[in-house]
Amino acid sequence: MSEHLSSELVYLDNAATSFPKPEGVYDAVNRFIRENAGSPTRGIGEGSDETNRLLDLTRRRLASFLGIRKAERLIFTYSATDGLSTVLFGLLDEGDHVLITPLEHNSVLRPLDMLASEKGVMFNILPHDYTGRVYADSIRDLVRPNTRLIAISMVSNVLGTIQPYKEICEVGRKLGIPVLLDGAQAAGHIPIELDKWGAAFFACPGHKAMLGLQGTGILYVNEDYTVRPLRVGGTGYLSESMKHPTAMPQYYESGTINMPGVASLSAGLDFIESFGLEKIDLHVTALAARLISGLMEIPGVVIYGPKDTKDGHGGVVSFNIGEHNCTTVGEILAGKYRIANRVGFHCAPLTHRLVGTLDRGGTVRLSIGVFNAAEHIEKALAAVQEIATTL
Ligand SMILES: Cc1ncc(COP(=O)(O)O)c(C=O)c1O
Repeated sequence: MSEHLSSELVYLDNAATSFPKPEGVYDAVNRFIRENAGSPTRGIGEGSDETNRLLDLTRRRLASFLGIRKAERLIFTYSATDGLSTVLFGLLDEGDHVLITPLEHNSVLRPLDMLASEKGVMFNILPHDYTGRVYADSIRDLVRPNTRLIAISMVSNVLGTIQPYKEICEVGRKLGIPVLLDGAQAAGHIPIELDKWGAAFFACPGHKAMLGLQGTGILYVNEDYTVRPLRVGGTGYLSESMKHPTAMPQYYESGTINMPGVASLSAGLDFIESFGLEKIDLHVTALAARLISGLMEIPGVVIYGPKDTKDGHGGVVSFNIGEHNCTTVGEILAGKYRIANRVGFHCAPLTHRLVGTLDRGGTVRLSIGVFNAAEHIEKALAAVQEIATTL
C-alpha cells in the first residue's frame, strides 16, 4: 500500500449523514438528557421551563440563520423527508402540475409518483445541462395554468451540482408559483436567505451539514401559504379542545418534539457560527476541487457532474472505474482502505438516468464535510489509484 494509506477511518459519506459531530453536540445531548426532566410545551416547573426556553431560542436562532423573519413559521420535523412530504401531500390536489429538476431525491419523487397515481398530479422536468443544472428562464415556457409548485433540490446529492435557486425563486415569485427548496445538501454548507429570495417552502434534515442528530429536520412554510399538516394531535396547547390548533408552529408540530435533537441542532449551530459558514463553504469546495482534479488524473476513472468548482460545489462527487461494478469498488474502499463511502443510486433515479448510470448499478460517491482535511482526500485518491491499477 502507498504511504498515504493508513488504517484510520476516513469518513467521506457526509451526504448521507455527517460524522463526526462537533464535541459541543455530544456534550449538549448528554447534558440535555441527563438534566432536563420536562417535556416541551407540556409540563410545569423547572425542567419544562428550561426545555421551553431551549426550544424557543433554537427556533429563533435557526430562523435567523436561514433568513426567516417569522420564527414561528420554522417547524421542527423528523427529517427532510417529513418536511417535503408535508408540503407535497398537504398542497397538491387533483390535476395539479409541478415543475422539478432531474436531480430530485426520492423524498420528492416518490410523493409525486404517489400523487400522480392517486390524484392525477402531473410533473415535468425543467430543461437542463449535462450536470442537471436547470435553466431558470425555461420555467416560463413550461408553466401551465394548473402549475401549483416548483420543487428544486438546491444541491444534488449525487453530483454536487448547485441549482440556480435564487433565480428560480425570483421567476417563481414573478409568476406567482410557490417554490419548494430541498435544502438537504445545502443547509449548513452554503448561505441561505429564504425571505430575501422569496422561497415559499424549505425543508432540510438536521443530521447532515447542520451537524445535529438523526431524527431531526426543519421545515419552513412562508406566511403566505398554509398546507394541510401530515399529522394532527397533541400539541400541549388548547388541550381542552378536540379541534387541532391553527396557531403556528403548533399547527405542524403534533407529538412530543425530539428535544435531544433540538439541543443537538443548537450546539451544531454554535459550531457553524464560530467556524463561519463562508469558511465551511470555501473549505468544502476546495476539497471537492482537489478530489475532482485528482480523480481526473487516474486512468479509467469517469467522474459524473460538474468538474468546474469556481462558482462553488456541493462537496459530493460520484465516479466509476472503467466497467467495474461500483459496489465492488466501494467495498474495497471501505474494507481495505477504511474509506467510508456510498455506492448505488443514492435515492435519485432520475440523476442516474441523466448521467447514464442507471443500467450499471449507479456510482461510487464520496461526500465531504467540515471535518475532512486535505489528507483525507489524498488518502482517497491514493486508494482509488491503487484500485484502478490492480482491479
Ligand atoms: C437531496 C436530498 N433530499 C432529501 C433527503 C432526505 O433526507 P432525510 O433522510 O433526512 O429525510 C436527502 C438525504 O439524503 C437528500 O440528499
